[in-house]
Amino acid sequence: MAELIDGKKISQDLKDEVKEQVAELKTKGVEVTLAVILVGNDPASTVYVGNKKKACEYTGINSKSFELPEETTEEELLKLIKELNEDETVNGILVQLPLPKHIDEDKVIRAIDPDKDVDGFHPESVGRLSIGVPGFVSCTPAGVIELLKRSGTNLDGANAVVVGRSNIVGKPMGILLLRENATVTICHSHTKNLKEICKNADVLVVAIGQPKFIDGSYIKEGATVIDVGIHRIDGTKKLCGDVDFESAEKVAGKITPVPGGVGPMTIAELMNNCLQSALMNK
Ligand code: GUN
Repeated sequence: MAELIDGKKISQDLKDEVKEQVAELKTKGVEVTLAVILVGNDPASTVYVGNKKKACEYTGINSKSFELPEETTEEELLKLIKELNEDETVNGILVQLPLPKHIDEDKVIRAIDPDKDVDGFHPESVGRLSIGVPGFVSCTPAGVIELLKRSGTNLDGANAVVVGRSNIVGKPMGILLLRENATVTICHSHTKNLKEICKNADVLVVAIGQPKFIDGSYIKEGATVIDVGIHRIDGTKKLCGDVDFESAEKVAGKITPVPGGVGPMTIAELMNNCLQSALMNK
């Protein structure tokens, strides 16, 4: 049976480390502040934003919350971002996605100062990551790397396979694994011989948004499996990932559960990015 990688515990450790450093900065008169913008009242986004504010409270990071009505215009939102870019007391700016349909998401992301882009979604942040210069890394793939490192998974020279090529997870995940000296393969819906490629992975990261798509038959004996997916099982309150946990845990060496694996890492990494922003600009 595979060993569980405990995302709850690892994210708690990371938040505690951030909390300690935030407190230390405070003694030097430096405050860390995150501005969170939510447009409209999408229920899932409201929950995510609430969780981000709670994590700020826990770590001692100030949160400035902007809850704007659904009818907010693109122009009004861009004006607020410009003000926050110029506000020296703000270290991080986060615009919760998705935005209402009448607002151009790309334009909004590009309006954020890359030095305050704690989500790591700005093209400049993505470019910095690609060429290996300091910048913000998208929180979920950064969290996956932390899970791998803190669970003692070797990445140097390892065959790492990423299933999924999204801008937020798959692509940055591939670059981060490459930075750790893994040999990286990124698979997607057009990949031939998916099972064969996955079966050769020492480290398998799955982020495709398809419930229980990858079962034990895709996994090499002893491999480390990271499941980024999260889905509600039809008609129940139960959650599952992109990996069929039951069959996968019989073959894998280490595996993340859903819930309690990758999920809690995303917010912990956001807090870390806010701290890093304050450290860079102090
Ligand atoms: N919506 C879902 N996930 C995220 C995230 O990580 N950041 C932002 N800004 N919006 C999201």
